[in-house]
Amino acid sequence: MDRRQLIRSVAAAATVAVATRPEASAAEEGRFPAGFLWGTAGSAYQVEGRTDRSSDCIWDTFCRRPGKIKDGSNGDVACDSYRRYAEDVALIKGAGLKAYRFSVSWPRVQPAGAGQADPRGLDYYSRLVDALRKAGIEPWVCLYHWDLPQELQDRGGWTERATPERYAEYAGLVAKKLGDRVTRWLTLNEPSVHAILGHGLGQHAPGLQSRAATMAALHHQNLAHGDGVAALRAVGGRKWRIGAALSLQPARPADGAADNVPAAQIWDALWNRASLDPPLLGTYPAILAAELEKLLKGDDLARIRQPIDFVGVNYYNPMYQKRDPAGLVGSNWGAVPDRLKRTGLGWPIDPDGLVEVLADLRDRYGNPPLYITENGACFPDAPGPGGRVDDQGRIAFLRNHLAACRRALAQKANLQGYFAWTLLDNFEWAEGYTAPFGLARVDRRTLKRSPKASYEWFARMARSNKLDP
Ligand code: FCB
Repeated sequence: MDRRQLIRSVAAAATVAVATRPEASAAEEGRFPAGFLWGTAGSAYQVEGRTDRSSDCIWDTFCRRPGKIKDGSNGDVACDSYRRYAEDVALIKGAGLKAYRFSVSWPRVQPAGAGQADPRGLDYYSRLVDALRKAGIEPWVCLYHWDLPQELQDRGGWTERATPERYAEYAGLVAKKLGDRVTRWLTLNEPSVHAILGHGLGQHAPGLQSRAATMAALHHQNLAHGDGVAALRAVGGRKWRIGAALSLQPARPADGAADNVPAAQIWDALWNRASLDPPLLGTYPAILAAELEKLLKGDDLARIRQPIDFVGVNYYNPMYQKRDPAGLVGSNWGAVPDRLKRTGLGWPIDPDGLVEVLADLRDRYGNPPLYITENGACFPDAPGPGGRVDDQGRIAFLRNHLAACRRALAQKANLQGYFAWTLLDNFEWAEGYTAPFGLARVDRRTLKRSPKASYEWFARMARSNKLDP
């Protein structure tokens, strides 16, 4: 290298050093951007209990079907948060969290899924919102987390085109009641999981096992999302921040086999793209277009593609798909690579999958504002001496996924907040009460809440805005 080259390379190195220093030092300190939102999330059927809800939702009826729920349980008691919400709010405040994502139970506020509202239900959410705001916690209201009123299911539920219209009416009803105090809204939770596990694989309510029902449930939930955004805007206008919480999990070919690539591609289209492309791009993914577009009428795609303010990302694990002619869309879950550790439910742990999802939203969907609206893990969590749960596995899971968030931020993902799933051990759908995900343990006999080690860890992190404080 001659002198001129040396000077040039030293100058270039200096420029690089100057340009990257702020980021590098922030990275060393493990800080999140100022204003990064820390929260936790739950859902109505999983925590509220049945008190004062006069009509069944599809999970009530599903839980009555023998063999559907691992421990034969249901959401009748759950965490009794309908009565104990003040304790929950105190826990959230005690952790220094600034946001709580909860869902409204449609049958609690509108028992028949149409027409007459039940004031007890609306008043409950009103009390919850007031308590949160008083504690300095921003309510993030999700309008649908899988608990359709049974009466609507009896008329076809999400396989029917009338259901999105019912949903939009219901959304307007809730918006009018809470809209003087709530400005953050999620239309739906994980429409693809609801469609696939509930309408295709029969593992969730309403327990259908049909490819056609899966496609109809996907399309009609997409319509409900679009109509719901419009109904919310009609009350709150552009100043409200509206999005949806989507389950986004990379689909990879099992065993790395070329043979399994098409199975991974079609599963990616079904699980991720069929609820991501219509609201953000106004299209259905090509591999499924023939099937989904049969359901289109008039300006459906425009109805779905309402401007939204953020995408909520629920991330748990990558999926490894194998070819299986008997599987839904010819694809099925295959073997997970041995190198990946697993959670208590056997779900593979791979924080890099989250980086991949966030990069994909940046590159293919115009880098919209993002919130992680769910991320967390189930571990067996046996209480130690004194009843304390020292859940180091959960702490490691959260730490590693938050480190992944920081890598994604360094790569310019538009990530603005993180909600841990979940505050309390609760009713985990087909797993019943056998799969604890909470930052706090709930004694099934007394319903007493006890913070776990992960609660303290997450609180320290949220307060300092810094990983490993
Ligand atoms: C998500 C659900 C949530 C919870 C977690 C573990 O798919 O949205 O209710 O069950 O999984």
